Amino acid sequence: MSNTPAAGVLPGHPFVHLRADQLFVEEVALSELAAAHGTPLFVYSKGAMLNALAAYQRGFAGRDAQICYAMKANSSLGVLQVFAQAGCGFDIVSGGELERVLAAGGDARKIIFSGVGKTPREMRRALEVGIGCFNVESEAELHVLSRVAGELGRRAPVSIRVNPNVDPKTHPYISTGLKGNKFGVAHEETLRIYQVAASLPGLQVVGIDCHIGSQITEVTPYLDAMDRVLDLVDAIEAAGISLHHIDFGGGLGIDYQGDTPPAADSLWAQLLAKIDARGHGRKKLMIEPGRSLVGNAGVCLTEVLYVKPGEQKNFCIVDAAMNDLPRPAMYQAFHRILPVAPPAASATVACYDVVGPICESGDWIGRDRELRVQGGEILAVLSAGAYCMSMASNYNTRGRAAELLVDGAKVHMIRERESTADQMRHERLVLA
Ligand code: LLP
Repeated sequence: MSNTPAAGVLPGHPFVHLRADQLFVEEVALSELAAAHGTPLFVYSKGAMLNALAAYQRGFAGRDAQICYAMKANSSLGVLQVFAQAGCGFDIVSGGELERVLAAGGDARKIIFSGVGKTPREMRRALEVGIGCFNVESEAELHVLSRVAGELGRRAPVSIRVNPNVDPKTHPYISTGLKGNKFGVAHEETLRIYQVAASLPGLQVVGIDCHIGSQITEVTPYLDAMDRVLDLVDAIEAAGISLHHIDFGGGLGIDYQGDTPPAADSLWAQLLAKIDARGHGRKKLMIEPGRSLVGNAGVCLTEVLYVKPGEQKNFCIVDAAMNDLPRPAMYQAFHRILPVAPPAASATVACYDVVGPICESGDWIGRDRELRVQGGEILAVLSAGAYCMSMASNYNTRGRAAELLVDGAKVHMIRERESTADQMRHERLVLA
């Protein structure tokens, strides 16, 4: 299918739609996928990913810009391949993510390496494959990177991640640009640290970087952060250190529950106007979006195992759990939950907590949801493309779910369901 949204779509989910009471992703009925592949099952729309990417591409039309997909949002190879083929770079935070990009056919020169705790081994490998830039987060890291690069006879391209001390007005666990956060270097320290970077033999200063948080739904924090970053650009360049690019991070939110984040193109029209007005319009721009490229491209299908009425609460027990969908347990996050087909006439309407089989009270997926359900039905948990599979675990020795990529009427298996043997593969019995 082309990446044009279908009619009858759900708000915020242009590639998920209802057709004759059946929920579809692109041209494929979700009930059929659940029957064929079992549950829990992640289903991603390629069209939705490309559509989300297109909004950024429109925003940067005619500019020297590079979109680096923040792959921590969803690092499955089949997803990375979609973005690699669309010409994206990647924002990585570990040596493991680096190997995934290379395995998916990504271009090493378009990789930027973020994170507060890069190891010398990770730095060495990244230098060997020739990544585009290291986003350095502390003075101590600068010294180690310069030494590692020197040992290889190279100069490492660096940006310094600055902490603009702007409140992104999001959940405290995913806000990163405030003074109390572990990320970046303090605004007041930035110039001095740039001078250190410029003096180190193994480094080449190429840019400046900032990322203020995630699931941001307002424009103002971005505009404020851009002002603060541009102030620093002026100060750094006045000190004789020239900057080739500005990396403005990621963080744009998605519609989970009627949220209304700005569209990527309109946000960037405002940010570019600011950059131009301050005379930096010819610098290369880099961004690191994650959630906004994949979040609403994915759903997680789960089967209702049991309905358990209670005195205070009714529980709808499903076969997906906090190991598959960790966001509600970790951030009290909301995901819409919908049946994929009309419920059986015998099903009762009630208010349920939708919970998984894991032995923790925190194992819930949705609270106080009005649902008409009975055992055996399939539910779709929406907005499950970002920070679900990439944060999945094996808690309770639950294998990780399978993943499918839908492209029009075509369905590609991009990850097989993990077996118990897979989980035990690296373990050893030691007692005779
Ligand atoms: N760049 C850096 C340096 C980051 O730390 C992050 C996300 C991104 C880019 C991408 O941000 P995005 O565009 O996806 O908002 N697990 C949490 C989100 C953690 C975000 C961590 N950093 C959640 O499920 O809400």
